[in-house]
Amino acid sequence: MTDHVTIYEMAPRDGLQDEKQPVAAADKVKLVNLLSTTGLKKIEVTSFVDPKWVPQMADAAEVMTGIDRTEGITYAALTPNLRGFTRAIEAKADEVAIFASASEGFSQRNINCSIAESLERFKPVAEAARAAGIPLRGYVSCITDCPYDGPTPPAQVAFVAKALANLGCYEISLGDTLGHGVTETMSKMLDAVFAELPATQLAGHYHDTGGNALSNIALSLDRGVRTFDASTGGVGGCPYAPGATGNVATEAVVALLHAQGFDTGIDPDALAKAATFAKTLRTPQ
Ligand code: HMG
Ligand code: MG
Repeated sequence: MTDHVTIYEMAPRDGLQDEKQPVAAADKVKLVNLLSTTGLKKIEVTSFVDPKWVPQMADAAEVMTGIDRTEGITYAALTPNLRGFTRAIEAKADEVAIFASASEGFSQRNINCSIAESLERFKPVAEAARAAGIPLRGYVSCITDCPYDGPTPPAQVAFVAKALANLGCYEISLGDTLGHGVTETMSKMLDAVFAELPATQLAGHYHDTGGNALSNIALSLDRGVRTFDASTGGVGGCPYAPGATGNVATEAVVALLHAQGFDTGIDPDALAKAATFAKTLRTPQ
């Protein structure tokens, strides 16, 4: 049987959250609808964060309620707190994600609290998600390097990943937020995380600033990881990770996986159309 790899699509959220010029809600809806034709089964549509922090995501409810839903696709959203969770559920998100950092500096800059405070803040979100029967995903940012604190100790990544799993996250996405991870740092980080969690509960979320995302995916595949976050057209970046580029391009990941004999269920031609459109939404440099 062919080994299946799941791609978790990030373009509408991670891809567009840092665009300087406003992207119309209708264009975001169009992008999600195009992505829904590609065979992708998981799409992160938007984030219900404070619009003062991320203005580009102020239209989260309009986008989430405006998309055409295809059966079998999970339409997900980021929710930093209970307020975000309530907004996401009102807009009929199928799945939500909480997001923590393995480094204190990024935690403070990104969500305005320490790591310990963030884990406390996520507790009511996790309880509400459980009560509502909504799957909960978790992110750990800065898995190898932090823009504010420098190199991240692998044990810290393992600690935060385990804490998110204990809160009820069915999957923990390991975020190379800066895109500076290399074979040595990624391997040490995975060693530490695998001591706490199985590969089946992990996903790779690699930004491609250093051009190493594909080799980091290959390395993670060898270690048994079978879910990767990627952004169609390679669009994106994080407002609180200066200089970082977008997630690795979905089309590049699909090409790598198909060349290696993995099944993704994704149609490269439909994906190419979505990528062409995603790139038109970028602010001209
Ligand atoms: P805070 O200011 O500490 O929050 O922000 P607060 O609870 O003190 O509330 C302050 C104000 O924000 C209040 O309004 C709240 O109502 C409002 P005011 O009284 O001033 O009028 N507020 C909200 N409004 C709408 N929706 C909400 C919400 N919550 C509070 N959910 C907070 C804390 C976490 C809210 C803020 O820091 C925030 O929104 N941060 C999000 C930053 C972000 O979205 N970053 C990018 C996503 S993470 C990422 O890209 C990394 C990832 O891709 C993985 C990787 O690559 O590593 C996931
Ligand atoms: Mg990211």
